[in-house]
Amino acid sequence: MSTIAIESSLQEDRLFSPPPNLSKTARIGSLEEYQRLHDRAVTDPEEFWGELAENELHWFQKWEKVLDWQPPYARWFVGGKLNVAYNCLDRHLTPERRDKPALIWEGEPGDTRILTYQQLHREVCEIANALKKLGVQKGDRVGIYLPMIPEAAIAMLACVRIGAIHSVVFGGFSAEALKDRLNDARAKIVITADGGWRKGAIVHLKHQVDVALADGGVPSVETVLVVKRTGQPIHFDPDRDRWWDDLQEEFADTDCPAEPMDAEDPIFILYTSGTTGKPKGVVHATGGYNLYTHITTKWAFDLQDTDIFWCTADVGWITGHSYIVYGPLSNGATTVMYEGAPSTANPGCLWDVVEKHRVTIFYTAPTAIRLFMKLGEEFPNARDLSSLRLLGSVGEPINPTAWMWYYRVIGGERCPIVDTWWQTETGGAMLTPLPGATPTKPGSATLPFPGIVADVVDLDGNPVGENEGGYLVVKQPWPSMIRTVYNNPDRYLSTYWDKIPPKDGQWFYFSGDGARRDKDGYFWVMGRVDDVINVAGHRLGTMEVESALVSHPAVTEAAVVGKPSDIKGEEIVAFVTLEADYTPSEDLEKDLKQHVVREIGALARPAAIQFTEALPKTRSGKIVRRILRALAAGEAVTGDTSTLEDRSVLDKLRG
Ligand code: PRX
Repeated sequence: MSTIAIESSLQEDRLFSPPPNLSKTARIGSLEEYQRLHDRAVTDPEEFWGELAENELHWFQKWEKVLDWQPPYARWFVGGKLNVAYNCLDRHLTPERRDKPALIWEGEPGDTRILTYQQLHREVCEIANALKKLGVQKGDRVGIYLPMIPEAAIAMLACVRIGAIHSVVFGGFSAEALKDRLNDARAKIVITADGGWRKGAIVHLKHQVDVALADGGVPSVETVLVVKRTGQPIHFDPDRDRWWDDLQEEFADTDCPAEPMDAEDPIFILYTSGTTGKPKGVVHATGGYNLYTHITTKWAFDLQDTDIFWCTADVGWITGHSYIVYGPLSNGATTVMYEGAPSTANPGCLWDVVEKHRVTIFYTAPTAIRLFMKLGEEFPNARDLSSLRLLGSVGEPINPTAWMWYYRVIGGERCPIVDTWWQTETGGAMLTPLPGATPTKPGSATLPFPGIVADVVDLDGNPVGENEGGYLVVKQPWPSMIRTVYNNPDRYLSTYWDKIPPKDGQWFYFSGDGARRDKDGYFWVMGRVDDVINVAGHRLGTMEVESALVSHPAVTEAAVVGKPSDIKGEEIVAFVTLEADYTPSEDLEKDLKQHVVREIGALARPAAIQFTEALPKTRSGKIVRRILRALAAGEAVTGDTSTLEDRSVLDKLRG
């Protein structure tokens, strides 16, 4: 049993009730109210989601049907027309709200920008017009490869305003990874910056774009739009590159009407790792995504008009899409964006931001919490964190020790913690406490959001017993569910719907996570059950790292597994066999690690590479990862090893 599993079972009976004063004013103020909502939503999803869509969003044209479910394909708000940028901006331009800060941005070097709804709206319109001038039309794909600067949100909203489909690529991905994603999406334009600040150094983003596009690397890209952030000299191709500032000036103060989009038009593509070497382009749809991120922000974070909401994720991940940009802005909230990252050199930087901007809701990842624990509580203790009223966690299971530390040191034992389980594919939070209603248990994502029918089942789709491990599935469609895998509809079926075949008309969305439910029906997510690992909250396919390794001339074969890590949750260990004319050495190990960084990005750098003469395989040639995982973790190899083709491999691996 993993440490998390042992810790969780010890904590299971520890209940933290919602603070009564919070329940009084909360959007959802009791468990009974939650249950009523949930029951209604499950019994009559069309009425429930239809009513919310009507009350919470602006529509240019009302839908004809709330849900058209032809398993496993859902269409939501069929025939309805809306624009997400309109919902995030225009409808907040009322006398009461237009001067409210929409975006508070804190740069790593300490520079700050605050954009009101009015100002954000204007900048989005200017860039939307600029994109049109560059030939971007409705349905075109736009690559966004930016640091955490306001222009990232502006670029996303500008695309959405004109109906272009953005594909944001995390700035930590390498040129190679960027190239693959841009090619898959056939992006027409890439929006980048000269550089970005990260832990005191400049990240050379424009250079990475140049490398990706060199020698016709991405033939579809016609223009590169460059934001000036760091000001360092860059290569500038006058035929292809344009400065963001120049275009913004050209379209200064111009209006750009929001394009009425069909509710099922794609809003964006976001690539995420799966079990093959190639990342999948998860496609989300306009109406359902808008509604679900809106309502989860409002209810799961109990968002009030006065809140200062800070999600620390990068906009390159789904968390940044849903809970920095679309969810908070659709609600007319103030959202915080921070360019920096905590490091040993600057251990109190996040708490400085909380204190400076009086943040009320703080949403981060367990890996960050574990890092803060290690850095020491003197840093948060030295800041005034009294503005905080609610904390959130996302990205991986949170171990109860980290939960308790977060609760005590950051939340001052007064802030509820919402541990939200969800995925790139789900668009928004699926299992989560509602802070005014749901008693929490450290380490559990508690109960489904109203209307989400989640379960833990075996491979035949039968629910498993109390506290038995099984597969976490979703049994009814929800508005922000993945619509397809871009360019690869078969993969949509094989990844999410074929793993547990439908039974008696019941379909099972397969999340790839293992979980159990306790006696109160609370969900305890245990982690991935497929070949996906979660390194410091970053989702990576083991096959992706393996493909990167075998593309090095020295490598014959590679097998990658996750090894438990105190801070990162998991780290990468690679077992590698070499071509005949190569011998293991420290230099080669370094070179291979560097090669993975070049192919994917620093987030995929293996923590360790173990050279071996052979890998443990079954007679049919399948690598037995279970054995490698045990070896990497320094545990005894248990279970059946009789299926191994060559058992002597085990001794060799043990060295
Ligand atoms: O394994 C689960 C883990 O993160 C995976 C999804 O990763 P990604 O698509 O990158 O999205 C991350 C942010 C939503 C899931 O399959 N995960 C996410 N949140 C939790 C979690 N595991 C346990 N508890 C969570 N709260």
